[in-house]
Amino acid sequence: MPEWKPRTKLVHAGARRSQWGEMAEAIHLTQGFVYDTAEAAEARFVEAGQDEFIYARYGNPTVRMFEDRMAVIEGTEDAFATASGMAAVNAALTAILKAGDHVVAARALFGSCLYVLDILKRFGVAVTLVDGRDLAAWAAAITPATKAVFFESVSNPTLEVIDIAAVAKLAHAVGAVVIVDNVFATPVFSRAVELGADVVVYSATKHIDGGGRCLGGVVCGTRDYIRGPLETYVKHTGSALSPFNAWVLLNGLQTLDLRVRAQAASALALAEAVSGHAAVARTLYPGLASHPEHELAMTQMGSGGTMVSIDLAGGQEAAFAFLNALKIVLISNNLGDARSIATHPATTTHQRLPAEQKALLGITPGLVRLSLGIEDTGDLLADVLGALAVI
Ligand SMILES: Cc1ncc(COP(=O)(O)O)c(C=O)c1O
Repeated sequence: MPEWKPRTKLVHAGARRSQWGEMAEAIHLTQGFVYDTAEAAEARFVEAGQDEFIYARYGNPTVRMFEDRMAVIEGTEDAFATASGMAAVNAALTAILKAGDHVVAARALFGSCLYVLDILKRFGVAVTLVDGRDLAAWAAAITPATKAVFFESVSNPTLEVIDIAAVAKLAHAVGAVVIVDNVFATPVFSRAVELGADVVVYSATKHIDGGGRCLGGVVCGTRDYIRGPLETYVKHTGSALSPFNAWVLLNGLQTLDLRVRAQAASALALAEAVSGHAAVARTLYPGLASHPEHELAMTQMGSGGTMVSIDLAGGQEAAFAFLNALKIVLISNNLGDARSIATHPATTTHQRLPAEQKALLGITPGLVRLSLGIEDTGDLLADVLGALAVI
């Protein structure tokens, strides 16, 4: 379907209908499949065809629809769904690494991603962390022993933007696999594969669901990688996506483009409205010309995305007063939801990071991460500006 535009693909790609011709994707809530004969069972275990399934840990028709739709949208040959975004990150890395290998990763990573790298270290994988914005640091860290590079294309929560094309060029020069956690870019603004990413990982829990209903993850890549090491790792270690959650995510994908564009428009309006406000020391939004990687964000994503982080001049006290004064924006720690969400990373999502690491990453006591939802932009601005007025 190369002639279809992304919004059409988000609605229709990967759909499989049973003999009943159902309109909505069917939920195949089954762990296993029945074979007509013993010979048929044997043949399927030797090699399962496109429409043949063995066991839901290996694959399931509803899950396969989600995988096929994600591969089409991301522009990869294939995709494999997982139970959560972290299962996807863990599988993407662990499936291809062994003791003695070397990984270079950006230091500004979601806490659980850093934890996965620590597990790899326990099994003899060397890990070097770099400032992801510093290409000289990547160049110095990547060596012929480097098997993979890993980074969030837009970092959580300080919204640093990493140059996918430049890092991929350095990594490919030594044959390393480029694995990009693309959650903040979303599949709508993603050009990761075109820019050189080999593997793109999403927490589908975020924008893809968009309703805060379920956990899910997906790894997108070449057929050799996905149906080779990645599938082998996930199917034997058990982090398969539930068919019910795949169905929720398929429904989420249908409205993804509409939601994310509306969220990004509100994010830009909010960032413009709060930057320069007396209570706000720093406004971090890649869509603002003042953001250090603004130009890069525009070429890489064509948008600043759906997230805005603000650093309140009054520190944690001001941040808590601001959060407690919000009436529409909810205090929580998810992102990408249709409902706007405010998070205080220093005391929640990034609480466990040592103080010096928080300081290095810019996770200050006053930092508040805002995930814009699809509510009316004017209502959101009034809510945030009203809460800023309270402090
Ligand atoms: C950048 C990033 N990667 C991965 C994850 C993990 O996703 P999940 O919560 O679905 O496991 C998250 C979310 O918490 C995230 O923000």
